[in-house]
Amino acid sequence: MNARTDTGEAGFRPASRIAAIGVSRILQIGARAAAMKRQGRPVIILGAGEPDFDTPDFVKQAAKAAIDAGDTKYTALDGTPALKQAIARKFERENGVAYTPDEITVSTGAKQILFNAFMATLNEGDEVVIPTPYWTSYSDIVAVAGGKAVLVPCSAQAGFRLTAAQLEAAITPKTRWVLLNSPSNPSGAAYGEADYRPLLDVLMRHPHVWLMVDDIYEHIVYDDFRFVTPAAIEPRLKERTLTINGGSKAYAMTGWRIGYAGGPKPLIKVMAVIQSQSTSCPSSVSQAAALAALDGPQDFLGERRDSFRRRRDLVVGALNAIDGISCRVPEGAFYTFADCAGLLGRATPSGTVIASDDDFADYLLEEAEVAVVPGSAFGLSPFFRISYATGEAELTEAMNRIAAACARLV
Ligand SMILES: Cc1ncc(COP(=O)(O)O)c(C=O)c1O
Repeated sequence: MNARTDTGEAGFRPASRIAAIGVSRILQIGARAAAMKRQGRPVIILGAGEPDFDTPDFVKQAAKAAIDAGDTKYTALDGTPALKQAIARKFERENGVAYTPDEITVSTGAKQILFNAFMATLNEGDEVVIPTPYWTSYSDIVAVAGGKAVLVPCSAQAGFRLTAAQLEAAITPKTRWVLLNSPSNPSGAAYGEADYRPLLDVLMRHPHVWLMVDDIYEHIVYDDFRFVTPAAIEPRLKERTLTINGGSKAYAMTGWRIGYAGGPKPLIKVMAVIQSQSTSCPSSVSQAAALAALDGPQDFLGERRDSFRRRRDLVVGALNAIDGISCRVPEGAFYTFADCAGLLGRATPSGTVIASDDDFADYLLEEAEVAVVPGSAFGLSPFFRISYATGEAELTEAMNRIAAACARLV
């Protein structure tokens, strides 16, 4: 379905810039699952892209205090000076990267950071290299901004990571940006320093290409994986790198809508121009909350990480025990991206053949009453994504149902 077919009312014509953008498959599945739930069916939804934890109390308190102090007006366009300083401290403390406040921008979520950056830099036909599987909004935002997403498939065997040879081959004179996301939504794969180094070496040879990194899952990494951001690895690239982060995943602040980025001053300035004509500034109260989150105690992050790791192990173990499914162990985020190639060609009890990951996700929703998202939604098939940001009891029940449904395929 796309916007054109979706709006067939007489006389109504959507702008051509959104004509090619589909209604998100994730939203479609979520809507179907919600409708089934309303009919009383016990659907378990493993599609959500947000932590099931609550925003920490000290963050909520800071927001209440901000309201009481009258902190309820427009703020500086791209973030209060106090929040920008806290972000500068965060980049220095956690990433070893020095950004001055005028190299920092704050927006209504990391999504608006991406939107501002692409709107402010892409001319018609400019290319953005995006490794697949990718978070669906990346290609859609690039399209809205008039750019062209150059999707590069990254196999499970390669850890869903882009290789230097792939990057080299994807770069053309029209390439404006390379967009990397570590840990990744949807694969959970992450780039360590040794994975990044060869890619950064390629970029050093192509000075017209800028690097955008989405570090929003930075704090959700497991085992002995060491998170690192490219601007820290290769300081010479910092002058053409936009380092994106935000409060949504680390601090369970999805509804507060605060994202931020560090980057070169001229870029930060033009991003503010876009923001000035869209949202004017991020919410004043949310900025006060984000400031508290960044400057406050960070010990709860470890507890939450341990809880996510237990759930990752539960899901990966259960998936790999199913004949026809194989799942690599993700380094981070709260998603698994499992291969279901071994199930294709099998038939459901009603005789329908599972021909694709879309069919498999439909089957799981109807037969197992578990909502997962097919890999096609993220540009790589045949896979399916599970978000394990759900209680362990519900996850166990979901995995039992998936195993039983798979066992019924012949
Ligand atoms: C990879 C990635 N980047 C950015 C975002 C958006 O985050 P925010 O809530 O800050 O807009 C998401 C949300 O799902 C995401 O998965």
